[in-house]
Amino acid sequence: MAQLDIQNLVKRYGDFHAVRDVSLTVADGEFLVLLGPSGCGKTTTLRMVAGFIEPSAGHVKLGGADVTLLPPWKRNAGMVFQSYALFPHLTVAQNVAFGLEMRKVPRPDMNRRVEETLALVRLEGYGGRLPRQLSGGQQQRVALARALAIHPDVLLLDEPLSNLDAKLRQEVRVEIRELQQRMGLTTVMVTHDQEEALTMADRLVVMNEGSVRQVGSQRDLYERPADKFVAGFVGRSTFLDGTVEAPGCFRTEGGLSLVCAGGTAGKASLSLRPERLEIAAAPLAGLDNCLPGTVEFVSYLGAMIDIHVRLSPADRLVVQIANREGGFTPDVGQSVHVGWRASAGQVFNA
Ligand SMILES: Nc1ncnc2c1ncn2[C@@H]1O[C@H](COP(=O)(O)OP(=O)(O)OP(=O)(O)O)[C@@H](O)[C@H]1O
Ligand SMILES: [Mg+2]
Repeated sequence: MAQLDIQNLVKRYGDFHAVRDVSLTVADGEFLVLLGPSGCGKTTTLRMVAGFIEPSAGHVKLGGADVTLLPPWKRNAGMVFQSYALFPHLTVAQNVAFGLEMRKVPRPDMNRRVEETLALVRLEGYGGRLPRQLSGGQQQRVALARALAIHPDVLLLDEPLSNLDAKLRQEVRVEIRELQQRMGLTTVMVTHDQEEALTMADRLVVMNEGSVRQVGSQRDLYERPADKFVAGFVGRSTFLDGTVEAPGCFRTEGGLSLVCAGGTAGKASLSLRPERLEIAAAPLAGLDNCLPGTVEFVSYLGAMIDIHVRLSPADRLVVQIANREGGFTPDVGQSVHVGWRASAGQVFNA
């Protein structure tokens, strides 16, 4: 196991920057999750760490040693690819042995390691099968075994659960997390699934357009998003666009005057979490903001209900309420009041 240092990593394809100046430190034994929209550079970053893509600039250090220019098989990084990329014509055991052969591990050691690793992912006895004779979840675990067999200093997982159904995903993610903790593996995982990120990560990294936007715990990212992008990407936000007229005074595009927390004068967006808003038939007392509106759309989510409220021709909000028995659930077209404390919102200057 080892600390991973990614220093000012850049990948250019012609004029296009797939990754621009990414720096991250992953502590020994830490589980870091990369989150970000499609095309933001997550896979490119992982592949540069693993050695499959040569960086245009920057360095990768594993346990303090600079491995930037080493080929994949000379750096001790195990990678599970976005599509599990098993060799279809090789058996499970041959797939798992692949990295060991590349590293010229002697045959008896190799066989023992393959057995051990298959046991680790609970696939004892499957060594002789071909990938197509396995279920999706089993193939996923073979890919994981292949990455683990080399006893990696760092484990790189690129959406390792993306092809599994919801139930299997939940099982395999607990298995991976337990294995990672038991082995103290330094791990970087890419996922699109926020719940997955939440349950697995020690820390999260949000990327956009090739750059790191914020690093922190789920709570940091949710409660104190660094910018409007993170506010919209982690959890859910509903935005009102307008202007900060003076610190604490926000005027929406539709002309509503609101009390906000801080902000510097100028064009801005007010970000609000739907579950931090209150809604009632009558005006709400004791809140910094309370506005009348009309319900435009109601979306029933089971445990929760989303209510889209029109506040002015230019201003619309989403309020999320818990689906409690006997709770207030307005209908489309109904007049309501929406309220919140200034501290529930966050202002992002344009
Ligand atoms: N070989 C290449 N040549 C040119 N552009 C590339 C190449 N490989 C990747 N890109 C571009 O680099 C950007 C980052 O790609 P990358 O695969 O890292 O995205 P990603 O964050 O993993 O996305 P996804 O979530 O869809 O897997 C994309 O815009 C992609 O089109
Ligand atoms: Mg990708």
